[in-house]
Amino acid sequence: MDKLQIDGGAALVGEVRISGAKNAALPILAATLLVDGAVTIGNVPHLKDVTTTNELLGRMGASVSVDEKMRVTVDASAAIDCVAPYELVKKMRASILVLGPLLARFGHADVSLPGGCAIGARPVNIHVAGLQQLGADIRIENGFIKARATRLKGARLVLEAVTVTGTENLMMAATLAEGTTYIENAAREPEVVDLANFLNVLGARIHGAGTDTIVIEGVRKLHGGCYEVLPDRIEAGTFLVAGAITRGRVRVRDMRPDHLDAVTAKLREAGAAVTIGDSWIEVDMRGKRPLAIDLRTAPYPAFPTDMQAQFAALNTIADGVGTITETIFENRFMHMLEMRRLGADIHLEGNVAIVRGVSRLTAAPVMATDLRASASLVLAALAADGCTDIERIYHIDRGYECIEEKLRGLGAKIRRMPA
Ligand code: EPU
Repeated sequence: MDKLQIDGGAALVGEVRISGAKNAALPILAATLLVDGAVTIGNVPHLKDVTTTNELLGRMGASVSVDEKMRVTVDASAAIDCVAPYELVKKMRASILVLGPLLARFGHADVSLPGGCAIGARPVNIHVAGLQQLGADIRIENGFIKARATRLKGARLVLEAVTVTGTENLMMAATLAEGTTYIENAAREPEVVDLANFLNVLGARIHGAGTDTIVIEGVRKLHGGCYEVLPDRIEAGTFLVAGAITRGRVRVRDMRPDHLDAVTAKLREAGAAVTIGDSWIEVDMRGKRPLAIDLRTAPYPAFPTDMQAQFAALNTIADGVGTITETIFENRFMHMLEMRRLGADIHLEGNVAIVRGVSRLTAAPVMATDLRASASLVLAALAADGCTDIERIYHIDRGYECIEEKLRGLGAKIRRMPA
């Protein structure tokens, strides 16, 4: 298992290109199962989770090819074996995204139940209840969700809680249903909108994505086509915090600034000068110590849970005391315990972390526990005195494309070593 070794202390300066969004690419790849024809998807990030999804699609019998520009072409016109096995679902919970498409197009799906997760229980009851309302017969048997339906029928779904992949699964299923489906209390994340745009390019009729009511008029078939995945707002936000925490100046480019409004507001509160262009954001924290900020995670457009750990890292070296409240996942504070090993002063009370900024962090070996926790440890290590080893770094490869190369391009001293 590889580890990352980081010599902290260098102010990061420069510009970095943002890759395609993991959390848009994964549902879009799953949605290719709805399509009778070949679909070519560009700006797909080169990530472990994408490889796992491609493997899953391939195992089911879809033809999957990747060209030199990382464009992925999937053709699921042929017979598909509608099973998502435990060995792949346990590697990546987003495999649940094949449930809606398989059921809608083929009338059956056996998808392994995702198990526990490092950040919380993450049940899929809302996905299941929604599909049942669309007419599916669903049983949980031998650790599998076994779903059967003839043609799904449009319905009015009121989601019990805002769920991103739940909204996506139901939107995909409703695309081929008979009649109109309304998804109320839908997630408004840009990745949901990207998936809807993708499906509409292929002949779906989806309106209202990006609001809390999505209306889907079912169609008989989707046809092949081409699509470019939107840029990754969480990768962009992570690099902006890298600039701020090292008291540097970092510009992220080829991204959508409007998707990061809640994040740039917090960077400004932390004292950074933030400049925003058409497709870039620059953060400048040179010569300043960041100020502690309070934040509370919530569904989009509020502050994203996927940026919570990175801002916790920023607070560890800030001036003052900042309170971080996590409302989406019940166990997303593992990074806090690791950051304490670097000298951070953090007090945990349930879903609230009170972070008292220290003037310096000092290097120590730490362990990554999930994707965004890994990112926050990388950020803390970049700001710490001395050389930090971060173990179990495979988590970071699930969601950050070429992270060492990109950070090195900004002047970070970072290497990957066999552990
Ligand atoms: N929930 C339920 N029942 C359900 C579904 C969700 O109770 O059937 C609860 C969850 O337990 C959680 C809350 O609803 O407390 C929200 O979870 P959501 O379903 O929105 O999360 P997700 O769809 O499983 C996606 C991202 C996550 C991101 C969350 C929140 C993908 C592939 N994953 O997960 O991304 O944190 O939305 O924005 O889109 C990451 O990239 O590191 C990551 C974890």
